[in-house]
Amino acid sequence: MQQRITSQSESKQSALASAEQLFKPEEWPEHLRQLPIGQKKSVGSLKEGAIAALRAENLDRKIEITRQIAFQWRSGVLGVGGVVGARPPDRPGRPAKPKLVPPRNLKKRSIRSQRGRIALLHAIAHIELNAIDLAWDIVARFADPVTKTDYRMPRSFFDGWVRVALEESKHFSLLRQRLVQLGSHYGALDAHDGLWEAAQATGHDLTARLAIVPLILEARGLDITPSLLRQIEAVDDPESAAIFHIIYRDEMGHVAVGAKWFRYLCLRQGLEPSAGFQTLVRKYFRGPLKPPFNDFARCRAGLTPGFYRALSSAGR
Ligand SMILES: [Fe+2]
Ligand SMILES: [Fe+2]
Repeated sequence: MQQRITSQSESKQSALASAEQLFKPEEWPEHLRQLPIGQKKSVGSLKEGAIAALRAENLDRKIEITRQIAFQWRSGVLGVGGVVGARPPDRPGRPAKPKLVPPRNLKKRSIRSQRGRIALLHAIAHIELNAIDLAWDIVARFADPVTKTDYRMPRSFFDGWVRVALEESKHFSLLRQRLVQLGSHYGALDAHDGLWEAAQATGHDLTARLAIVPLILEARGLDITPSLLRQIEAVDDPESAAIFHIIYRDEMGHVAVGAKWFRYLCLRQGLEPSAGFQTLVRKYFRGPLKPPFNDFARCRAGLTPGFYRALSSAGR
């Protein structure tokens, strides 16, 4: 009996590992590397690829384009930008469902029931889909200098955001697959547009965008994921818990990418990073930050309490 349980959990682990491998382009078999983006063999630049991913309404297509661009970028065949006249869309391409509603219209359910767990996984899947588009939006919007006096960000900046986009597409795919295993699917429930809206005011200013997207919104994910994980483990759903472990590990890296480049931009502008962060957050983010904070994970990502404590409801 013990042996059967062990081999079942081993086979679930290996199924998850092979699902993860689909998002490691270096390890793909040759036939996967050859898949064309649209009618073309390749896009001309990273910016063009990011715009194609943003525009894709079909989510399989959005994921496919994301994986393909990541492979081409890492192969060194893409330049960063320079597509004349190409602009990212104001809103990303999305399927007809889920319907977007105000956050207050979304029901909260206990995750002790299967319906409640499905609602949670659906809500997180929607966040991950937004995160794919937000990563590509940073690439597309800031691939070329925004103003004549701006400078172009180094290639390693784009390495970071390509990795983020790829990992977000992995998170979304794993959750979408889990929803199907639980008898539902992405699009079966309503969702809200808060994340996309929160980011849009910073489309003209990369420093502000980094303050709001990775250092506020993604850092918030680090605060809430450990307690979600405990709740999922308590209702004995190891498959969903394994996905949350992957998300938690990867998200620390996303906040780290944000913190590294936020500090870089502050130093170039002669700003003290934590003071610069507080000014930008007060300008572009509504409301105080909610404690408790996961100081350990935030610090590991380079986001130390001096940045955010003064902005919390407790610190005011
Ligand atoms: Fe994610
Ligand atoms: Fe993320």
